[in-house]
Amino acid sequence: MKIEEFSLERIQSLFENVVPINLSDSGVHPMSVNDLLDQNEIEELLELELGYGWTNGAVSLRSTIADLYNERSADDVIVTNGSAEANFLMVMSLLNPGDEIVVFTPNYLQIVGWARAIGVDVKTIPHNENAGWEIDIEQLQKSVSGKTRLITVCNPNNPTGATLSLDAMNALVDVARQHDIYLHADEVYKGSELAGDEPPSIVDLYEKAIATNGLSKAMALPGLRIGWLAGPAKDIYAAWQRKDYTSITTSTISEYIAERVLQPALRQKILNRSKSILRENLALLVDWIDANSDTVSLVPPKAGGMAFVRYNRDVNSTDLAHKLRTDKGVFVLPGDVYGLDGYFRIGIGAPKSHLEPGLEKIGEYFSSPDFRDLDKRRGAMTPSSDPD
Ligand SMILES: Cc1ncc(COP(=O)(O)O)c(C=O)c1O
Repeated sequence: MKIEEFSLERIQSLFENVVPINLSDSGVHPMSVNDLLDQNEIEELLELELGYGWTNGAVSLRSTIADLYNERSADDVIVTNGSAEANFLMVMSLLNPGDEIVVFTPNYLQIVGWARAIGVDVKTIPHNENAGWEIDIEQLQKSVSGKTRLITVCNPNNPTGATLSLDAMNALVDVARQHDIYLHADEVYKGSELAGDEPPSIVDLYEKAIATNGLSKAMALPGLRIGWLAGPAKDIYAAWQRKDYTSITTSTISEYIAERVLQPALRQKILNRSKSILRENLALLVDWIDANSDTVSLVPPKAGGMAFVRYNRDVNSTDLAHKLRTDKGVFVLPGDVYGLDGYFRIGIGAPKSHLEPGLEKIGEYFSSPDFRDLDKRRGAMTPSSDPD
């Protein structure tokens, strides 16, 4: 089996821990165990026996997760090591070599990488930036064939922070239902919507929908490595069969904390913290974009810890990211890792004390002769390529 390099993760793991100002993350600055548990719970945690537990997740944790959805039970949920493992198990349990899937791009690309590696034919449909990164349902209708097994979407989206309207979600459901195929949504940024109420999960709208989620992004707890899949019980069971072959279980300590942070009141408190950090930082970013509008533009994100910034100079995004890192000590993610040159992704979940000087340094680079001369690209801001 050949698998393409997951360049998004690789470039981050090479540099995010060694750069003075890391603005490459997509989540919210993490919380500590002390922030989450009271003294009794901390004592209880210290006494916890570090056994294996259930290979699909403790029943009580799965029930707590099931309560996030309408009329779901513990059997409709499997707990995984991060949402990354949830996506992996989803691919391995639902897809077969020779199947087709339809994917909206840009997105996190983990599912695309695994699907291609096992011989699935991946059809991509670009989100439309001019329409606020909306989905193109007409294109979807044309792309679905008799071989299509699954439609998958990242909602809220990594990297754009766009969210699907309820109408758009229902339109996706209509197409999936019409063809009797699976509809998957990676919802790991759900709950961080900056305006309005938290929208429903795709799982609450369609009987053959399956959702990936976890505690790493909107919930600001990536170090717990807790994720899950929620969907039809028989497909969750198939994912469980594969989990026995991979990581066996999640960590007992993480499951203990996960069950507490997913209680409605604490979950809401954590999400409110996330949203307040994101709102403040987004305002800062938008001011910076305005001040640098000769160089950059942005469709402001509606959720998630990142913004996908477009720039109008003829400089490759990977080269730009490395220049900013080596010359200015600031690390942003190049659009190249999404197959979209001419953009960079910047984390807005970082502490303000990080983002503010980071933006200042990027601004300094934009005013430098080195960057100013590279303006051939101005006025020709079309995405260079699709991941295909
Ligand atoms: C859309 C999406 N899904 C899944 C993941 C994996 O996250 P984790 O395994 O930390 O939950 C990421 C990480 O960036 C992501 O952006």
